[in-house]
Amino acid sequence: PRVAIVVVAAGSGTRLSAGAPKAFVGIDEHSILRHALDGIAAAPAPQVVIVVPRGRQGDAQTEAEAAFGGRSDLVSVVVGGQTRQQSVAAGLAALWADVETVLVHDAARALTPPDVFERVIAEVERSGAGVVPARPVVDTLKRVTGAVVDEAVDRAPLVAAQTPQGFPRALLEAAYAAATEEYTDDAALFAAAGHPVHTVMGDDLSFKITTPADLDRARHLLRPATA
Ligand code: C5P
Repeated sequence: PRVAIVVVAAGSGTRLSAGAPKAFVGIDEHSILRHALDGIAAAPAPQVVIVVPRGRQGDAQTEAEAAFGGRSDLVSVVVGGQTRQQSVAAGLAALWADVETVLVHDAARALTPPDVFERVIAEVERSGAGVVPARPVVDTLKRVTGAVVDEAVDRAPLVAAQTPQGFPRALLEAAYAAATEEYTDDAALFAAAGHPVHTVMGDDLSFKITTPADLDRARHLLRPATA
């Protein structure tokens, strides 16, 4: 069954305040988008749809050629929307007819290891459910009203959801077509349509680059080790 990965990279990067749309900010000599595509290039060869801000299509094509080399005919570049959900919808509209499994991935999770993609694809194909990579929650959680703590929250039944999130293509498209509100992530939208969602093991390296401190962390992780 054919797999496609939709990479959403159309965010503005306001919280990163690096002067460019987030996906086009450099980590080292390569951009956030380029690193995300490198991780995908090492996963099983699927269709890749890159969703970018208007005006950045050419830049995305250049990054795709660098990451995929001779396989860049697998790549489609489309323009995103105001919200992440609109950007995903734009990406879904560009899927080839024969795609059966679709993964939706944040470009901002630029260091996601290839084996996470493989786990998500395998579990979608095995179960027919939606699949999210998840990590245990490490922080102690409190429910608050303003600055006042109401109660501690038991974190045992909680996980942190990452991307890539995977779905049977037809079910995800129908869920998007039926969605009438904004959801936190694709798995929430999919679950709201009545479908089950499973978890597989995520990875700490899949953290989302959101703030300048996250960018520093990514830079540090990519720095060659010195003797
Ligand atoms: O803003 P946040 O970091 O949560 O965005 C997660 C991902 O969604 C990023 O990769 C970002 O580029 C993408 N996004 C998008 N279109 C939007 C907003 C976010 O593709 N309108």
